[in-house]
Amino acid sequence: MKKLKIAIDGWSSCGKSTLAKQIAKHLGYTYIDSGAMYRAITLFFMRNNIDLTDASTIENAISQISLRFIPSANAQTSEIYLNDENVEMQIRSMAVADEVSKVAALKQVRDFAVSQQQEMGKHGGVVMDGRDIGTVVFPDAEVKLFMTASPEIRTKRRYLEMAEKGIEITMEEVMENLKKRDHIDSTRMFSPLTQATDALVIDNSNLTMEEQLDVAMKLIQEKINLAQD
Ligand code: CDP
Repeated sequence: MKKLKIAIDGWSSCGKSTLAKQIAKHLGYTYIDSGAMYRAITLFFMRNNIDLTDASTIENAISQISLRFIPSANAQTSEIYLNDENVEMQIRSMAVADEVSKVAALKQVRDFAVSQQQEMGKHGGVVMDGRDIGTVVFPDAEVKLFMTASPEIRTKRRYLEMAEKGIEITMEEVMENLKKRDHIDSTRMFSPLTQATDALVIDNSNLTMEEQLDVAMKLIQEKINLAQD
């Protein structure tokens, strides 16, 4: 049976990774968190005080980075490794969230991440979430979803997620960060966050997890049927 490429894009903290994981589990596909790659690159840049205005320093830093996804111990998902170090926890910090959109706007960083994402998904059977998956990484994806939710709901969800991980943070700080990232992500010069014209928009502000999976699976099943013809 032909395995599809499923692209999920959308605003910060609107449940892209939750839906992507649900779909991947349902279909036995691989979930790829493209945002984790930008976060890991950002962590490397922060640790090494990389000057974001100096092209050759950036180029040199990127040449020292290797990223890999390795299934977690419970095999439910995979975790990102930066030069053989598991950085899955560190990349979720507010310090990284504050810097990531600036780093992700750099052309050299995007070229580096996008070529690896394309390689990972070239045989299909992947669900990838991010900002430019349906527009730049896999413009040929059979399924494109664009997710959104109200800013209040997105803030609350991310706040609870971070609080659960023991990160000390206020709602205001979370909302500021989401606003800032959304602004940088949607106005940057290279691969800005935009809705692919052929994407199905899902506003999950008032949907339960089951309902959002149902909405997505209706479209995906149609596309799977079409792909077998
Ligand atoms: O916080 P959230 O889960 O919504 O974001 P993420 O998927 O972890 O992505 C973190 C940041 O990486 C985004 O705010 C973007 O600046 C950048 N990113 C990107 O530019 N392109 C992607 N395909 C994925 C993420």
